[in-house]
Amino acid sequence: MMMKKSLQLILLVLCLSGIGFGQNTIVLQPNTDAPVIYANIYGHFAEHLGSCIYGGFYVGDTSRIANTNGVRNDIIDALKKLKVPNLRWPGGCFADTYHWKDGVGPKNNRPAIVNRWWGGVTEDNSFGTHDFLNMCELIGAKPYLAGNVGSGTVQELADWVQYVNAPANTSPMSKWRVQNGRTNPWNVTIWGVGNEAWGCGGNMKPEYYANVFRQYATYMTDWNNSDKLFRVASGANVDDYNWTEVLMRDIPHNMMEGVALHHYSFVKWSEKGSATDYNEQQYFATMKTALRMEELVTRHSTIMDKYDPAKRIALVVDEWGGWYNVEPGTNPGFLYQQNTIRDAMIAGVTLNIFNNHADRVRMANLAQAVNVLQAVILTNKEQMILTPTFHVMEMYNVHQDAKLLPIQIKTAQYTMGNEKLPAVSASASVNKEGITHITLTNIDPSKPQEISIDAKAHAFKSVSGRILTAKKLQDFNSFDNPNLIQPAAFSDAKISGTSLIVKLPPHSVVVLALK
Ligand code: AHR
Repeated sequence: MMMKKSLQLILLVLCLSGIGFGQNTIVLQPNTDAPVIYANIYGHFAEHLGSCIYGGFYVGDTSRIANTNGVRNDIIDALKKLKVPNLRWPGGCFADTYHWKDGVGPKNNRPAIVNRWWGGVTEDNSFGTHDFLNMCELIGAKPYLAGNVGSGTVQELADWVQYVNAPANTSPMSKWRVQNGRTNPWNVTIWGVGNEAWGCGGNMKPEYYANVFRQYATYMTDWNNSDKLFRVASGANVDDYNWTEVLMRDIPHNMMEGVALHHYSFVKWSEKGSATDYNEQQYFATMKTALRMEELVTRHSTIMDKYDPAKRIALVVDEWGGWYNVEPGTNPGFLYQQNTIRDAMIAGVTLNIFNNHADRVRMANLAQAVNVLQAVILTNKEQMILTPTFHVMEMYNVHQDAKLLPIQIKTAQYTMGNEKLPAVSASASVNKEGITHITLTNIDPSKPQEISIDAKAHAFKSVSGRILTAKKLQDFNSFDNPNLIQPAAFSDAKISGTSLIVKLPPHSVVVLALK
C-alpha cells in the first residue's frame, strides 16, 4: 500500500513538472551491416557573399588582425577544432558568375568582378584559387570547388581541373600554376558541376541540365590520375522530386558521384522574421521546416534507390541551415544574421537525420561558415565569436567516420495547437576505439524529456556527456557576451541495469560517450 502511494506521488510530481515520462524510448540496434557516417556530412560552405570571404575569412596580409597569407588565424584555429572535413567555394549563386582565371596571378593585375547576386558589390578578386586551396590546407579541410556552368564554358572548367590537379609543368595550366607560385598540385577531388541549375545557375529544365552535365563531366578529366574525381550534379530545390528522377535517369552513373539537394529552415519564406526576436509559434514553424529534412532525404533517396540500388551515387545536401531576415541596419544582400539556441536545435536535428541516412547522405554543407546565414563564426573587426551552431557541430564531430548504430526511437510530441513535432531526435555511432556516442536533442522549449535507452546488447560500464542549452529560447552569443551559450558537462545520464536513463532539459542538445 505504502509502495503504491509513493509511486502515485512520483507519477504526480512527474506529471506536474511536465517531464515526458515513459514516452521516450530508444533501442540501440545491432550494427553489423550499418554504414559509416562519412566525415563529409559535417562539411561547410564559404561563398563570396556579404562578409563571408572579404572581411570574414580574408582580411588581407596587411591587416592588424593576426593572419596567415591574409586569412584570419583565429578562424583557422576555430575551424580546425571543428574538424571541418570539406569546404565548398566560391558559391552558391556566385559560382555561376565566377571566372577563376581572374583570381590567379599577381593580385594587382586581377580584374574586378561585380557580385551581382549578393549586394552588387565590386570585388577585387584578391581572394582566388590559391588563397582558397592554401586556406583549406591550413584548416585541414578537403576543398569542394563549385564550377561555373551557368555563364562559364566547358573549357574553363576543364582548365580549372587541370590547373589545380595536373603534375607540375606537364600541361599549359600546370605550368601557369607553377609560375603563380605553387609547384605541387592540390589534388582537388570534389567538384560541383554548377549550382542550383534550376534557378540562379541558368534556369534550366532538368532534361537540359542533365545533357549539360554530361558534356561538362566528359571533360573533367582527372589530371592527377590517382584520386578519382567526385562530381556533384546540381540538385533539387527542396521537394522537386522530378529533378532527381530525371538526373538519375538521364546521366550515366559512371559520370556522376553525387546528386545535390538544397533545403533551408525558416518561419515563412515570404516573411522570414527576425533571427533573435521570435515567438514560440515562429520557433515551432522553423523547427517544422527543419524536420522536413527527414521526408526530403527519404523521398529523394527512394528515387535514387530505384536507379542505383547499390547506392553508389551519394545524396549531397550541400546547402542547409536557418534563413531569417538580416540584422537591422545591415545590407539585405549580405544575409548577415545572428544565431540563437533555435539554430542549435536546427543543427542538432538535421545532423541526426543525416547520420541516420548515412547509407545515402554521404556529404552535406551547412550554409554558411562565417557571417552568412546559419554561421558557425561571426566577426566584428578584431572580434570573433563562436555561435551555438558552432558548438553543436563540434559536439557532433565524434560521429565523423564512425560506424552508424541504427536506433529505433519512440518520442513524445511537441505540440502547438493541432500540430505536433517529435520532441526528441537522436543518432548513435561506434568509433574505431569502440566508444559509442549518442547525440540527442529536445526541441520542446518548455518540457524536459526523460529518455530510456535500451542498451542490452552493449553492457556499458560508464557514461559521460556534454550539453548545450540556454536559459531563454532566444538567447545568443554576442560580441559583448560571447560565451553565454557554450557546452557544459552533463550529468543527467545514468546507467541503470541494461538501460540508460537520460533527462534532457527543454531546448537542449546532448552528446554522450559510452564505454
Ligand atoms: O546560401 C545562399 C544562397 O542560397 C546560395 O548562393 C544559393 O545556392 C542558395 O539559393
